[in-house]
Amino acid sequence: MNFLKYFIAILALISQILSINIERTPCEKRLYSTLYSHVCVCNSTYCDTVDPVDFTNTDTFYQEYITSWSGLRLEKFKQKFDPEPAPDSQLNLTFSKSKEFQQIFGFGGAMTDASGFNIYSLSALTIQNLINSYFSKDGIEYNIIRVSVAGVDFSTRTYSYDDFAGDFNLSKFSLSKEDYEWKIPFIQSAIKTSPREVKLFASAWSAPPWMKTNNDYKGNGTLIGPVAGKYFQTWADYYVKFFDFYKKNGLHFWAMTAQNEPTDGYLYKFSFNSMGFTPETQSDFIAKNLGPSLRKNGFGDIKIMILDDQRLFLPGWAERVFSHNSQVSQYVQGIAVHWYLDSLVSPKVLELTHEKYADKFIFATEACHALGSFGPAVILGSFERAESYVRDIIEDLSHWVTGWTDWNIALDLKGGPNWANNFVDSPVIVNKTGDEFLKQPMFYAMGHFSKFVPEGSVRIELKSEGLKNMNLAHVAFKNDKNKQIILILLNKSSQSVKYSIGDGESGKFINAVLEAHSFRTIIWFY
Ligand SMILES: *[C@@H]1O[C@H](CO)[C@@H](O)[C@H](O)[C@H]1NC(C)=O
Ligand SMILES: *[C@@H]1O[C@H](CO)[C@@H](O)[C@H](O)[C@H]1NC(C)=O
Ligand SMILES: *[C@@H]1O[C@H](CO)[C@@H](O)[C@H](O)[C@H]1NC(C)=O
Ligand SMILES: *[C@@H]1O[C@H](CO)[C@@H](O)[C@H](O)[C@H]1NC(C)=O
Ligand SMILES: *[C@@H]1O[C@H](CO)[C@@H](O)[C@H](O)[C@H]1NC(C)=O
Repeated sequence: MNFLKYFIAILALISQILSINIERTPCEKRLYSTLYSHVCVCNSTYCDTVDPVDFTNTDTFYQEYITSWSGLRLEKFKQKFDPEPAPDSQLNLTFSKSKEFQQIFGFGGAMTDASGFNIYSLSALTIQNLINSYFSKDGIEYNIIRVSVAGVDFSTRTYSYDDFAGDFNLSKFSLSKEDYEWKIPFIQSAIKTSPREVKLFASAWSAPPWMKTNNDYKGNGTLIGPVAGKYFQTWADYYVKFFDFYKKNGLHFWAMTAQNEPTDGYLYKFSFNSMGFTPETQSDFIAKNLGPSLRKNGFGDIKIMILDDQRLFLPGWAERVFSHNSQVSQYVQGIAVHWYLDSLVSPKVLELTHEKYADKFIFATEACHALGSFGPAVILGSFERAESYVRDIIEDLSHWVTGWTDWNIALDLKGGPNWANNFVDSPVIVNKTGDEFLKQPMFYAMGHFSKFVPEGSVRIELKSEGLKNMNLAHVAFKNDKNKQIILILLNKSSQSVKYSIGDGESGKFINAVLEAHSFRTIIWFY
């Protein structure tokens, strides 16, 4: 063991002198169908890693990480700058370091009951490889975790933390075995593994049925009125209890959403955990119950996000929340959006929302792929799903969104468990019988942002000249701490594109070809 350590240290030294990187552990490919690309398989003894960014010779070389349909997964390349742009470039990109937009909070996924259940089914070493893949410096370095508050559809049963009717003082409140066995240990392990500060945010799907008009976890129902009355206050107290119990386990929250998809609770016979709020009831609930209760109990630093639903509802939802109760704005820091109807609604609504409420951040809190009843929820090796993640993230980030959260961190081969049979896909699919997990192309899509655009990065202007179409997307950031410009480029189509990148000042250019069906992160030091 010691010998091995020496050997690695010497290897590291030699490689530093020669300015090459220690080879990463490559992807163990598994192809299920030639219609799709491959997944990368990890088990108890093997898991692919990502090469670190190199901080040497940065005047001469830039670095790029590429993921492609043809087989690359976050593979690192070091390339020389050119002194001028290529004359035959089809796409010229010019970034401007001094034109700044929003600051980034980060990227991550959700530790749901189902995610924890799947991770728990693996052996200890395989679990560590899974946590490392998402959170370590050899992995994609997630720094955001969404934590579901009691039962959601991605649970194995319906439950709340206090299913005792009439327990208004919540004396019978307790966390569940899902928290103690499936969620808290893995969140703690992620925090321990991460070189970054991991930010947690909480979301609830439903109050206990006894607090609701329809006496059910699902379906259409709201808290029993009046707003700011006994039931609404008890629901605020329930959040305080949740934060108290998690604090006892060493977990403090950065933020919360005021309700997951509040509009679901008005859909007749909605099929899983839901609870309705209108912008007006959400406004009063935050101003009169939630905001003051968090402050009174030492949780006033937890940022509250409104909406947590499709962008379709913007900017109207924000306008109605902020205009309804004059006290609410002081308690609200953010506006949360889900991705499900993004293809139908222009990102302009994000811009409009930002223009009106520039002091509130916009944050993407949920996304996943599902075919529902039309086909399998999980498509092993789908590259198209990875591309649409990259496309949506670039679109969001180009319109003031400050970070992006995927849904379940790990699902089983069917896309569950889910008590309501609402199966979906995930960047990591657990194969329990093989004590292994499969890293989907979507996992690497997330990594192109999460690993290279750390918290504190700022989006900067990126102007383009030449090719413009739906399949081509790009965005740029700077990170003053690391002195880096970070660009992310996507070519979703079936032909390659010649492009050139520069800043118009440094006399350095990148001339390269963006392969068909590929995306890349480029790191340029300044
Ligand atoms: C883990 O995967 C590696 C690479 O595919 C393989 O060589 C090894 O036998 C596997 N280990 C176990 C315990 O299955
Ligand atoms: C990109 O810039 C180069 C060099 O200035 C020029 O020759 C080329 O026509 C430009 N391409 C586009 C698409 O504008
Ligand atoms: C909670 O309320 C119940 C009755 O509703 C009462 O018996 C109990 O003492 C109360 N507990 C606390 C801690 O106030
Ligand atoms: C649920 O929706 C139905 C149909 O719109 C309506 O009749 C019923 O009153 C609603 N129930 C609740 C509890 O809101
Ligand atoms: C899961 O693991 C089992 C046991 O190794 C293997 O037979 C099966 O093919 C794997 N499933 C997938 C989808 O890779």
